[in-house]
This record gives sequence, structure tokens and C-alpha cells, in this order.
Amino acid sequence: MRVLFVCLGNICRSPTAEAVLRHKLLELGLQEGVEVDSAGTGDWHVGKPPDSRTRQAALLRGYDLSALRGRQVCASDFARFDLILAMDNSNLQHLRRMRPGNAAAELDLFLRRYDLALDEVPDPYYGGEEGFEQVLDLIEQACDGLLRELRGRL
Ligand code: 4NP
Repeated sequence: MRVLFVCLGNICRSPTAEAVLRHKLLELGLQEGVEVDSAGTGDWHVGKPPDSRTRQAALLRGYDLSALRGRQVCASDFARFDLILAMDNSNLQHLRRMRPGNAAAELDLFLRRYDLALDEVPDPYYGGEEGFEQVLDLIEQACDGLLRELRGRL
């Protein structure tokens, strides 16, 4: 299984999801069966490390994002990944527009797929510290749902 998380900048929400899922896969010994990556719909942060506030908040929960670098989602991602999970509706619309007609990848809204109370992971970039904690709370919960799905599909 190959899973791609997508947000706007690829420096806050989707790299957090990538690191949380990788961490949980390692804990469960499932890392060999699942390839995980993240990307942004925008190109402003290509090649840059995740946002320092994102890295700090994640590290306090045991997730190390320091090796990750931003990249932009591209058409070939729809052939390379089985499941592409968008962080908000705007990201999802962007992905639907760029999706090639013969794309194999399944495309969905991350939180909605796993029945969380919210449908979207709010963009924390222009807000305060609490936004980064909320991103982690939502992503940790949704990753538990995703892991249940992955275990059933591996
Ligand atoms: P992300 O957050 O989509 O969760 O990575 C953002 C990062 C940067 C910007 C917007 C959102 N920006 O406008 O540069």
C-alpha cells in the first residue's frame, strides 16, 4: 500500500500526518508493507523543512519531522500512490482538477474517511500555538482509523 497526504504548503499538516503514520506503523511492525509520503498543492515551500512550530509541537509528542522536505504534488503521484488523502476541501478540489483520467489512486478527505467530528484539518499557519496541537490531535485520531483500514488491506 502506498499512501500520500496532501495539504497546501507541505510544511504543517501533511508532513505531520506522514510522521505520525510512519511512527504508528513502526510501533505495529507494519512499516514494510506501507509506503508513506506527503506533498503540497502549492510550490512556495519546495525543498524546505517543515514549519518550526510544526516541528516543535510534533517533537513534544515524539514525532521527528527534521528529515522531511517540502515537495509539490504532481500528476505521476496519481499512478504512484494507492490512496491520496487531502487535509481540507480546497486541497481535495485541487487534486480532483489535476487528477489524470486514467488515475488508479483513490482520492479522499482524510478526516471524513475516518468519521472524525470535523471534516477538515484546519490550516494552522496563520494562527497560534493551539492550532498546531489541534492538527496533531486530529491527525493522531484519523491515523488510528487509517491503520485499521491498512491492516485490513495488507
Ligand atoms: P500546510 O500549511 O498547508 O498545512 O502546510 C500552510 C503552510 C504555508 C502556507 C499555507 C498553509 N503558506 O501560505 O505559505
